Amino acid sequence: MTVGTEKKYYITTPIYYVNGLPHVGSALTTISCDVLARYQRLLGNDAYFLTGTDENAPKVQEAAAKAGVPVLDFVNRLAEAFEDCWKKLHIEPNDFIRTTEPRHLKVVQEFVTRLKDAGYVYLDTYEGWYSVSDETFFRDSEVKEGIAIETGKPVVRVQEENYFFKLSAFGDRLLEHIEANPEFLQPEFRKNEVIGFIREGLRDMSITRANKGWGIPVPGDGSKVIYVWFDALINYLAVTGWPDDPNWESRWPADLHFMGKEIFVRFHATLWPAMLMALNLPLPKQVYAHGWWTVQGAKGGKTGASLPHPTRLTQLISDRSGADFDLAADAQRYLLCREMNFGLDTEYSVENCLRRYNTDLANDLGNLLNRTINMLAKFCDGVVPKADRHDTEIVALAEQVRTEFQKSMKEFRLNTALETAWKLVGRMNKYIDERAPWAQAKVAASGDATAANELAVTLYTSLESARVVGVLVSPFMPVASEAVLKQLGISTSSQTLRWKDTEWGGLMPGSRTADPMPIFPRIQELSVDDDVLFALGSANPEHVSTEDQKEGTSPVSDMTNSSTLPIGSPIPPPDLEAKEEIGLIGIEDFMKVHLQVAEILAAEPVPNATKLLRLIVQAGEDDTRTILAGIAEYYTPEELVGRQVVVVANLQPRKMRGIESQGMLLAADLDGRAILLKPDQVVPVGSRVR
Ligand code: MSP
Repeated sequence: MTVGTEKKYYITTPIYYVNGLPHVGSALTTISCDVLARYQRLLGNDAYFLTGTDENAPKVQEAAAKAGVPVLDFVNRLAEAFEDCWKKLHIEPNDFIRTTEPRHLKVVQEFVTRLKDAGYVYLDTYEGWYSVSDETFFRDSEVKEGIAIETGKPVVRVQEENYFFKLSAFGDRLLEHIEANPEFLQPEFRKNEVIGFIREGLRDMSITRANKGWGIPVPGDGSKVIYVWFDALINYLAVTGWPDDPNWESRWPADLHFMGKEIFVRFHATLWPAMLMALNLPLPKQVYAHGWWTVQGAKGGKTGASLPHPTRLTQLISDRSGADFDLAADAQRYLLCREMNFGLDTEYSVENCLRRYNTDLANDLGNLLNRTINMLAKFCDGVVPKADRHDTEIVALAEQVRTEFQKSMKEFRLNTALETAWKLVGRMNKYIDERAPWAQAKVAASGDATAANELAVTLYTSLESARVVGVLVSPFMPVASEAVLKQLGISTSSQTLRWKDTEWGGLMPGSRTADPMPIFPRIQELSVDDDVLFALGSANPEHVSTEDQKEGTSPVSDMTNSSTLPIGSPIPPPDLEAKEEIGLIGIEDFMKVHLQVAEILAAEPVPNATKLLRLIVQAGEDDTRTILAGIAEYYTPEELVGRQVVVVANLQPRKMRGIESQGMLLAADLDGRAILLKPDQVVPVGSRVR
């Protein structure tokens, strides 16, 4: 390490695909990392927090094309949307990397050149499956009927001359490293998944794709671009200034890569460490995967489409409670971290969040603070009293809470850390009821010195507990923490707080508190109907998605024209009344409608929609799309899979229930019932129908 450069605590989020807007899934990961970085600073460590956007993916290029926006404009707008959203949620990264930046390209090309020079890259033919949606290559055994078994996403057959990375050379070294570094992969049960995956045998991996005008060109071979995952992982190293910046080692190795479970085993726990080993670079110290938000009714945790846009939800909290947007943003940070059972999948519900807002923030924390400050104003003119003793039970509890809080944070169980802090909040609310300071005040007013002292004990203990909690939550709610402390008469920036500030006794007797004001006013209306959910983002027609929303993205607003024809909408019965008004059209008009034979690869119900089925159809060799069809009352998903149908292939995409439908099926109308059309013999998919 270069002299004078202290190693920073370096923490990263995954970089998010810019094929859609953020939602509370990507927000959870990013908020968690922001919380962990702030927590490190609270501990007195110099934290360096990185997030960014993954822009070189074919699916991003596809999304831009579908939206009819030049790809560079498209990624610029989306990257800005991510940055803006994070800012509104008080997420403050030290750097935001975009993989279309020259600094990233340079490091990726250098990395690949060095791998080639070291003999770990060779040219061969790749023949197999690729899922654009997952941006992942799959083996034959990992694919069933055109669908990747692991992710449920469609795959296409690819045959390309590609460069390969000798991943197979690293299985044993990876296993040794995992064994020698028990903290490396977290949580423990996911480590076992990685070990199993490696033991199955690692195969060399294709690390390029044919150059279709988007992506980082392979150095010395412009016919190919670097496979997006290979490129994306290098972002973590690119920001350190490797290899030229003399200070790059003040950041590398990363202390923590933090992410959702789906990109843990294959990419962050296997491929990335192997890439680093190949260049003899130090491995990240810890790699952690949290579970997913799932939504009731959504299959297999593929929930991106049903999750709200983070700042729309903040606005809802603010509107319904009357809290400032900034405080509502902090509430949302709290709610996401508190609701998620870190490590495992967790059901997400807006209503649960609103309910918890009321119980934890408006009631529990709000009561402790407001009641105490109000009583202090009433009984002691707002001046913090001096008692002749501390309440040992509460001091011991506060100490225990600090220890448990630290343990949970170390294990990335952010929900448990908050739960622990609320033990003190809960106990204190009871404590106040038990000790009844209003009664103590009455006796004290009659000149009883013992009662006056006991009143001082009660009030000081309550105020000081609120202060300790205010400091503990500062990484989670930086703005609210400052507001809590301000009401207690302490003017401070949450960034200057340190762990010793959580020690008992920080509140100075004789100091003055401010006027009590509810920081988190109660929400009166807790119910959230479909219309509200719709407006929160994912199903809002103004917000048309450009991709079938992998987790991590929410619909893209203003990218496409929402006044287009409904595509894939429930097949409407012909309007007999209107028949007379249908004029004749010429053949050239008819030919504008592109009808194609397609095969249904997969079908599943759409959560909370009784009539809709979500279909994955193969409409051509390289043309797999999602179509929503209103046929759930007439066909079961099972009877549809494998069947040929006729689709309108050139309708503008349209978003329904948070899912983008990219076409429409043709069906005959039998008294309102949809009878699907199919060719009377099997023909190649993609055959034109005229
Ligand atoms: N671009 C890759 C990552 C490359 S990192 C070198 C990618 N991007 S993504 O946009 O799809 O983001 C995925 C991440 O978003 C997940 O790993 C997770 O952190 C977060 N989430 C997306 N959906 C989520 C849920 N439903 N629930 C919780 N987190 C989720 O993969």
